[in-house]
Amino acid sequence: MTTGELNRGELKYEGKAKRVYATANPAEYIVEYKDDATAFNAQKRGTWEGKGQTNNAITAHLYPQLEAAGIPTHFIEKLDDRHQRVKAVVIVPVEVIVRNVAAGSFSKRLGIEEGTPLSRPVVEYCYKSDALGDPLINSDTAIALGWATQEDLKTIRELALKVRDFLTDYFAQRGVRLIDFKLEFGKLADGEIVLADEISPDTCRFWDATTNEKLDKDRFRRDLGGEAEAYAEMLRRVTTEV
Ligand SMILES: Nc1ncnc2c1ncn2[C@@H]1O[C@H](COP(=O)(O)OP(=O)(O)OP(=O)(O)O)[C@@H](O)[C@H]1O
Ligand SMILES: [Mg+2]
Repeated sequence: MTTGELNRGELKYEGKAKRVYATANPAEYIVEYKDDATAFNAQKRGTWEGKGQTNNAITAHLYPQLEAAGIPTHFIEKLDDRHQRVKAVVIVPVEVIVRNVAAGSFSKRLGIEEGTPLSRPVVEYCYKSDALGDPLINSDTAIALGWATQEDLKTIRELALKVRDFLTDYFAQRGVRLIDFKLEFGKLADGEIVLADEISPDTCRFWDATTNEKLDKDRFRRDLGGEAEAYAEMLRRVTTEV
């Protein structure tokens, strides 16, 4: 298969926001970004035109820069508006949340007002299970249940903090406060841990640096309206040269 060609094979996984397809090369998948949005563990559903394209474009813009900053990722190339070619990985079933500022479930769980800055970044782990609502776990749980080894988690934590350093600065330069974000990591056939999945307004909280206006999926979650405009604005900011 020549590079850049959209030659999808069998559907491997369908999630709430993306589909993952096999390709002729067993080491590569094609990811398709859908226009669907879900929140609160898929209890709330929506869709808007341009969402898939926007998240695909934002992710495809950021991943090569993360690679250049020394973070190995699954990203190979953007194929078209909705598709990208990635390295096939086995996803580590641990969602990694990195927080700069209290918000969302952290604020709720601990009674800390949303918007309270944290004196150092906080890394949290959740078990990636829709059926259980992605419950919070700690590293002992992940190791004891065989979801990741101690070495895997050390690598994952280091990479997550490296991503945080890069992105926090990247967005600050574009007038955006990176409040928190969720990452997924996967294992290549040789065991190497790489950053997988997406980085987009679906998976990050972005607040405008001057107005604190929300520019992410909280617009949909909280019925604030203007989600399509906010995502488009984030694509514009992400692709701004500074
Ligand atoms: N390189 C990759 N190789 C294999 N699977 C991947 C890769 N990148 C992402 N995935 C997986 O693709 C699936 C579909 O993505 P999507 O964002 O739609 O999932 P989701 O509905 O949010 O569900 P989940 O809660 O499992 O993330 C996810 O399970 C994600 O972990
Ligand atoms: Mg997802």
